[in-house]
Amino acid sequence: MSDVSAERNDRRRHVPRHIAIVMDGNGRWAKARMMPRQAGHRAGAESVRQVVEAAGKMGVEVLTLFAFSSENWSRPQEEVSVLMDLFLRTLEKESVRLHEHNVRIRMIGDRARLSRRLQEQMASAEALTADNTGLTLVIAASYGGRWDLARAARRMAQDARDGQLDPNEINEQCMTSYLSLDGLPEPDLLIRTGGEKRISNFLLWHLAYAELLFVDTLWPDFGTDELHAAVDAFAGRERRFGMTAEQVERVGRA
Ligand code: FPP
Repeated sequence: MSDVSAERNDRRRHVPRHIAIVMDGNGRWAKARMMPRQAGHRAGAESVRQVVEAAGKMGVEVLTLFAFSSENWSRPQEEVSVLMDLFLRTLEKESVRLHEHNVRIRMIGDRARLSRRLQEQMASAEALTADNTGLTLVIAASYGGRWDLARAARRMAQDARDGQLDPNEINEQCMTSYLSLDGLPEPDLLIRTGGEKRISNFLLWHLAYAELLFVDTLWPDFGTDELHAAVDAFAGRERRFGMTAEQVERVGRA
């Protein structure tokens, strides 16, 4: 086996099943080039395209991208419109190509706050790709971890009231099933670009044991090479899930 394919093989063994990304730094990328913020978001959409393709090729099962948070609604109205328009156009343009690449698209977030047209486009992208078996691409739009938890609590309370859920049976597994990422493995690796070291109300429940990787690279500069570097950094981490290093070693050998 050549050195290159040995390296590729080794990387595949350590590839996270689920990568979640906080794509930060579009505004600063544009500012550094004396361009309007929207140019940064457009360049960010190009990074999305590259990273989705690279993640699929690496054998990642799920890629969750934080496209727009519950809190992003407080940005200037003009920027919110630019972002919504970019999501709509990107979905219109890319859905068929993603479908051809066997990608399954899933949206999480408070859809009721999105325009009817965007809601329809999201639903049709999900329906078109529902049976695909390759990478699952989760787009978090109008999403907040607290929103997700509050919605789960509300839905559990409704089911309990309707006699469909016994409150005594509510445990971690049950809770997970009421949250947006139901049915998907939890993130192994969270990457945040743009230099800040925060989770910013992303997947609060699901990130409990994720490895956190904060990189200075601004999102529009993050591409295939940077994703490979992030996965290499992940491969070097020891995940203990609350166990001792010796226990982990024993489990690994078994
Ligand atoms: C954060 O950078 C980025 C966003 C709020 C938007 C993310 C959107 C994209 C990458 C565009 C395309 C996405 C999809 C899914 C098609 P920022 O504006 O907060 O940057 P700053 O911190 O430098 O100001």
